[in-house]
Amino acid sequence: MSGKYATETILANAEGIARAAQVLREGGLVAVPTETVYGLAARADSDEAVARIYEAKGRPSFNPLIVHVRDGAQAREYADLTPGAGIIADHYWPAPLTLVVPRKPDAKLAAAVTAGLDTIALRSPNHPVMQALLAECDFPLAAPSANRSGFVSPTSAAHVAATLDGRIELILDDGRPCVEGLESTILAIRADGRWEELRPGPVDLDRLHRTYRNSALPIGEGRGGIEAPGQLASHYAPGKPMRLNISSGEVAPDDFVIGFGAIAGDCTLSERGDLNEAAARLYACLHEAAHSEKTRIAVAPVPEEGIGIAINDRLRRAATPPD
Ligand code: TXA
Ligand code: MG
Repeated sequence: MSGKYATETILANAEGIARAAQVLREGGLVAVPTETVYGLAARADSDEAVARIYEAKGRPSFNPLIVHVRDGAQAREYADLTPGAGIIADHYWPAPLTLVVPRKPDAKLAAAVTAGLDTIALRSPNHPVMQALLAECDFPLAAPSANRSGFVSPTSAAHVAATLDGRIELILDDGRPCVEGLESTILAIRADGRWEELRPGPVDLDRLHRTYRNSALPIGEGRGGIEAPGQLASHYAPGKPMRLNISSGEVAPDDFVIGFGAIAGDCTLSERGDLNEAAARLYACLHEAAHSEKTRIAVAPVPEEGIGIAINDRLRRAATPPD
């Protein structure tokens, strides 16, 4: 161990969850499993606790955080949900879907959570451990991905320890990798009902829109494409040069190959070409690539469809050298 804290990893059973709730109540930091990636949680209503997230991650302070809630009812304590946003919160959550909605002006949250914006990002995670933890806490949890800023996102407790050991109190270990493996889809629902996809992720927004547009309430029609503030082009970086859409013939001996389908790699996202499996394995392959002796990374093509859009978004960010 190195750093200020003796980081403990404990199993996410009832006892572990109770310990985690206690650490959070006292303003500490706990890495928690979710269905997307591990989150670095702190109580969202405490300036000091939230400041520690930024410190542990070494994150630029202009980047706002996602606030995790139990359900739509708890979301309404902090946000003014349009009727359409309310329907999704009440009927589609828990899900790997973050809603960016107008913040209640008097919402009792740390100012740094929303970084001065008049909107707030809210998500109810579809994971039994997070739901049990949120049920034990009488405050919501601010939680970015549980990695040092600029590093690959964690989909296992070991990935968390690799960059945050000594910087946080506790890691709640779910004992298996995160099911989705990619960060949540971020959808902004504006006051006039318009939708804007801020970050592609596991949820197919076209399908979601088709499901909900026939309800009597306004869900909005337009789909824009602006970036979430703080979504840096270079992100999830494995710290080595990386080339995308490589064919077998273009592989060099110093390449760590991330395969897909017919192209087998040192780590293969999905041999049978299944995009969901590929999403779940993406960060594990990037972690392996980062720690391998090979000096470069070459990635097989991944189809730009469904969750493949989110996979390619993360791959492009990982391949962009930091400024
Ligand atoms: O799956 C996830 O979303 C994971 C798990 C832990 O829940 N969390 C996660 O958090 O990915 P993070 O901090 O790595 O990403 C949060 C993103 C950032 O790109 C930030 O800019 C955006 O959410 N965001 C937060 N508040 C926002 C707001 N009010 N308006 C627009 N974007 C916002
Ligand atoms: Mg992140």
